[in-house]
Amino acid sequence: MILWQILLLFFCIFPIWSRLPEGQDLREIREDECYQKCFHQSAESCPDTHAPCRCQQLANCKKAVVCCNVNDQTLKEQLKCANLTTRQNEIEALHIRNATLEVLHLNLPEWKYLRSMTITDGHIKNVSEAFPKMTMVSCLNLSSNGIQGIQRRSLVNLYKLSYLDLSHNNLTEVPNFKIKGAVTLDILGNPSISCSSVSEAIGKSGITFNNENSTFCQTKNFYWFLSNDQVIISELRRIHELENNCISNCTCSPFVLNLGTKIPRVHTVAVNCSGSHLLTMPHKLPPHTVALDVSNNNITSLKELLDPSYKELIFLQADNNQITSIEQLEGTQFKSIFEFLSLKNNKITYIDTYLLEFYRPAVSVREVYLGLNKLTCDCTTMTDFKMWLQTKSDFIKDYKEIMCDTDEGDIRVVDIDPSKYCQSNEDWTDYIYYIIAAEVFLLVSLIAKVSYDYWVFKTAGYLPWPASKMPKLPCDWLCE
Ligand SMILES: *[C@@H]1O[C@H](CO)[C@@H](O)[C@H](O)[C@H]1NC(C)=O
Ligand SMILES: *[C@@H]1O[C@H](CO)[C@@H](O)[C@H](O)[C@H]1NC(C)=O
Ligand SMILES: *[C@@H]1O[C@H](CO)[C@@H](O)[C@H](O)[C@H]1NC(C)=O
Ligand SMILES: *[C@@H]1O[C@H](CO)[C@@H](O)[C@H](O)[C@H]1NC(C)=O
Ligand SMILES: *[C@@H]1O[C@H](CO)[C@@H](O)[C@H](O)[C@H]1NC(C)=O
Ligand SMILES: *[C@@H]1O[C@H](CO)[C@@H](O)[C@H](O)[C@H]1NC(C)=O
Ligand SMILES: *[C@@H]1O[C@H](CO)[C@@H](O)[C@H](O)[C@H]1NC(C)=O
Ligand SMILES: *[C@@H]1O[C@H](CO)[C@@H](O)[C@H](O)[C@H]1NC(C)=O
Ligand SMILES: *[C@@H]1O[C@H](CO)[C@@H](O)[C@H](O)[C@H]1NC(C)=O
Repeated sequence: MILWQILLLFFCIFPIWSRLPEGQDLREIREDECYQKCFHQSAESCPDTHAPCRCQQLANCKKAVVCCNVNDQTLKEQLKCANLTTRQNEIEALHIRNATLEVLHLNLPEWKYLRSMTITDGHIKNVSEAFPKMTMVSCLNLSSNGIQGIQRRSLVNLYKLSYLDLSHNNLTEVPNFKIKGAVTLDILGNPSISCSSVSEAIGKSGITFNNENSTFCQTKNFYWFLSNDQVIISELRRIHELENNCISNCTCSPFVLNLGTKIPRVHTVAVNCSGSHLLTMPHKLPPHTVALDVSNNNITSLKELLDPSYKELIFLQADNNQITSIEQLEGTQFKSIFEFLSLKNNKITYIDTYLLEFYRPAVSVREVYLGLNKLTCDCTTMTDFKMWLQTKSDFIKDYKEIMCDTDEGDIRVVDIDPSKYCQSNEDWTDYIYYIIAAEVFLLVSLIAKVSYDYWVFKTAGYLPWPASKMPKLPCDWLCE
């Protein structure tokens, strides 16, 4: 019996008990809405169109005001009738909907004690002046106004700023705001916003982007991007990380190859280590490096090209080093895929031409620079090399600057006449042929004479001249 009573009691109380917190939560949320970080009211909260004041304090939260349909002429007086002009009323949250303004001035003393300032869904051309010093606003929402310009220093005084919503405007730049501390920024739907200004914002510590994966910026004048291209913010963040995690003594940046509209864009990396006192090329490159500049160092060899991290490399610039040979291209992926190779002013003495040949028909561009290297020139190499150079003048762009290290100083390969260069050598070989011919003639004559003497001696029994006049040698008895 007691058990039944307990059960009955439980079933009666349980629904009430379980509903209670719900009801309480609902009431609390309503009140909290006024003072939550970003105050935002729907159009239904607007004052009645016939009301004398276009602003009103909300019934359930006295510290919050909603204004609607104000313009340049009415804004100030409406703020006054909303009690925003005095500190006494402790207005902390303001939402102005459908404001039509040429310029929104931020230097009004009315803003100073607000914690949340929301001016949305209106028509505002520009935002100018700066907030008063020590303004408390921590959430600023200027979304959906078609704003074209915010003066760069307008928001710098918002030392408590933690949420900045500038979405759905017509901005071209991210305005400056406080440098330190966490800020969430929303710039979704600003079709002309420049990537360089977004990139600058990404550099600030503690910044988070809302809608990072759906916000685009304009790449005009930003790295190698094609002008009027669009880049997603998360990609921009990747670029930023790339720049800040480069290999030592080098700088990394994106190298963008736009492979047409059908193929997805491939983001790749360019590494610049020029003038870093390197003695070797970097042992390991960041993933997807396609371009490397190691000019103006003291590098002696290209052997690092064999490292797997070099397998995507297409552009290599290594001017003004001490590289002695291009032999190390052998067996590398670079040899078959490269499009740009510059080895100006190195210490290369011999050029294996087959290492630079290009058989891939799909890519017609291949640029090679080898100027100011001093080759060891001899007749045969020069004959072949000069001929090769003449046929490759399209892609050895500075073929006129390749030098020959000769006795008479450095001479440009193109200025050397290989036939003249080889002349003395030809004379010498001709001379050898004459000697050999003479020697063969002499030998044949000698054998003929000896055979004739022997035949005469055998048949006539005497030795013809000069053998008869020769003094007898001790070994002659052997013949007799
Ligand atoms: C916005 O305000 C203007 C006058 O300032 C008014 O004509 C227009 O109807 C308002 N729009 C809305 C959606 O309330
Ligand atoms: C402004 O404050 C006064 C007195 O505190 C109050 O009577 C008045 O209703 C307030 N105005 C608005 C628009 O709420
Ligand atoms: C800012 O205002 C826009 C437009 O009314 C709204 O969609 C958005 O949610 C607001 N942002 C925040 C953080 O409240
Ligand atoms: C944005 O600004 C450009 C000119 O800067 C203008 O042509 C365009 O209509 C504007 N877009 C909006 C939505 O205001
Ligand atoms: C509005 O801002 C744009 C861009 O910053 C500027 O060119 C224009 O002169 C400004 N207009 C006014 C009225 O301040
Ligand atoms: C953005 O996209 C990346 C991958 O493209 C994903 O890892 C990340 O979680 C996404 N972020 C958000 C907020 O959706
Ligand atoms: C980077 O440069 C510094 C100073 O020029 C040098 O001491 C250091 O060895 C270099 N690091 C590498 C990896 O070359
Ligand atoms: C690498 O950096 C140097 C100076 O830091 C610059 O002169 C050079 O143009 C850069 N190389 C490339 C390929 O951009
Ligand atoms: C290369 O080394 C020589 C001597 O070792 C030095 O004088 C020169 O400055 C170095 N060059 C570069 C670009 O580091």
